[in-house]
Amino acid sequence: MKILVCGKGGCGKSTLTALLAQAMCRQGYNVLVVDNDESNFGLHRQLGMELPQDFLNYFGGKKELVEKMMKAFSSGEKATFFEHRWEISDIPEAYVSKNGNLSLMAVGKIHDSGEGCACPMGALSKQLLKNIDTSSNDFVLVDTEAGIEHFGRGVEEGCDILLMVVDPSYESIRLAEKISSLADSIEKPLYYICNRIEDASMEILLDAIPGSKILATVPINGSIFKAGLLGEEFRINVPEIEELSGFLKNMQESEYQN
Ligand SMILES: Nc1ncnc2c1ncn2[C@@H]1O[C@H](COP(=O)(O)OP(=O)(O)O)[C@@H](O)[C@H]1O
Ligand SMILES: [Mg+2]
Repeated sequence: MKILVCGKGGCGKSTLTALLAQAMCRQGYNVLVVDNDESNFGLHRQLGMELPQDFLNYFGGKKELVEKMMKAFSSGEKATFFEHRWEISDIPEAYVSKNGNLSLMAVGKIHDSGEGCACPMGALSKQLLKNIDTSSNDFVLVDTEAGIEHFGRGVEEGCDILLMVVDPSYESIRLAEKISSLADSIEKPLYYICNRIEDASMEILLDAIPGSKILATVPINGSIFKAGLLGEEFRINVPEIEELSGFLKNMQESEYQN
């Protein structure tokens, strides 16, 4: 199953992706985290890993990828980056950090001022996710950049479900409405994790988000915040995330039974 994690900036996407990835590993799955945020230089630390080199480099780097896209565009075609279908184990080792059954890859980071936009990363992510086949023992978790640009780039297309992280803010409530209509338009199931929640804020969120689609409600957690601030590997067992991993396990099992 391929799950895309989205939401507004600072709502907790990377934090919850890392915690969920670790929890899914504890459930015995092979988990691939795809770092799809070109501006995030911290997710690998939360997973206790080195930042792998940009997957873009496998295709000759950003410039080469852009040239390929332009060439295809000028002949009225779409550039294709993959010649055959991949499984997780087909991702070349040079582009993956590993820790037991957890793998991390980074599509591409912004390295230099004036290097150009992140569209090639979006185009590559879209094709990568559409091109990867997962087995009943695999989970792919995609950590995205803030907001909804990845919808514009079509990154969601290759994913099975969308998981929106909602923090108690007006902006998140508005964004939840927008993401709900975007998810409907591409017929992808959308679920929510409410994060950094206290009782009073949950009441307000429940007015805006369908309760039946909320898979977890995570409270403010001092250990998460401290490890995040120090750039330390998470070694935190969050009961709500463990429960979520059990839910996803059941979802995956019933998917593969049908
Ligand atoms: N449940 C939580 N309790 C305490 N702090 C949290 C929690 N979730 C996230 N944070 C903190 O919120 C900040 C933003 O989280 P982050 O995962 O980087 O957000 P995003 O990836 O959506 O931009 C970080 O400082 C992180 O440690
Ligand atoms: Mg992030």
